[in-house]
Amino acid sequence: MTFADQIDKKRMPKHIAIIMDGNGRWAKERGHERSYGHAQGVDVVRKITDASSRLGIQYLTLYAFSTENWNRPQEEVNILMSLIVSAIERETPDLIKNNVRLSTIGDFQRMPADVQERLAKCIRDTSAGTGLTLNLALSYSSRWELVDVVKKIAKQVQQGDIEVDEITESTITDALSTASMPDPDLLIRTGGEVRISNFLLWQLSYAELYFTAEYWPDFNEESLYKAIYDYQSRERRFGKISEQL
Ligand code: FPP
Repeated sequence: MTFADQIDKKRMPKHIAIIMDGNGRWAKERGHERSYGHAQGVDVVRKITDASSRLGIQYLTLYAFSTENWNRPQEEVNILMSLIVSAIERETPDLIKNNVRLSTIGDFQRMPADVQERLAKCIRDTSAGTGLTLNLALSYSSRWELVDVVKKIAKQVQQGDIEVDEITESTITDALSTASMPDPDLLIRTGGEVRISNFLLWQLSYAELYFTAEYWPDFNEESLYKAIYDYQSRERRFGKISEQL
């Protein structure tokens, strides 16, 4: 029996976040350049977006480019930027057809101007989508985001819009780049590393964490179903005891 048959379609996570790792190693092990792994990775993004959309997942956040990735060799940075933006442009008609809305989180100012403009157009073109929100974390890191949040709230205090004592968890949640989204229920990381790597640190507080050794280019629909099956087998207590649930 496949995992696809075993998952409960009525208890789907609303929001899945994925750290797509292992493209470089996948390519090197096959005697290719790292960029070949990234190109394969784009295909997997398409398949996993499709599958998530069909499963009725509401939000899929993909860690496509971290703030730290700016430190990679310039050639790899250029290849990644161009792969990401051209893939998104190519897929936009299908995203529209499948009712998928594109959104992004991250430090856009650091992205090349043409990439910013081209992505902004795809975001506008898919803005009527009411199904899955495909949220790309681009030039994103959680610490960058939290610094940004602190600056925003400090300005509100400075301008007299709120008092320091009025700051609550919601003040912070509402100032995050994910303000309009529920927190991820499930975090998947491929590629064998068991860490969070500066990704959605606030938002992942109660997420179920799922790590797989599979490299991202090898991850497929069945791998996604397996992760969801594993998620559904866990008891989420949010600090309470079983009997209270
Ligand atoms: C990590 O693998 C992967 C990335 C840094 C980039 C992920 C990007 C894609 C899969 C393309 C995304 C495309 C769209 C359309 C969103 P790695 O290079 O760190 O692999 P390694 O750990 O084996 O070196």
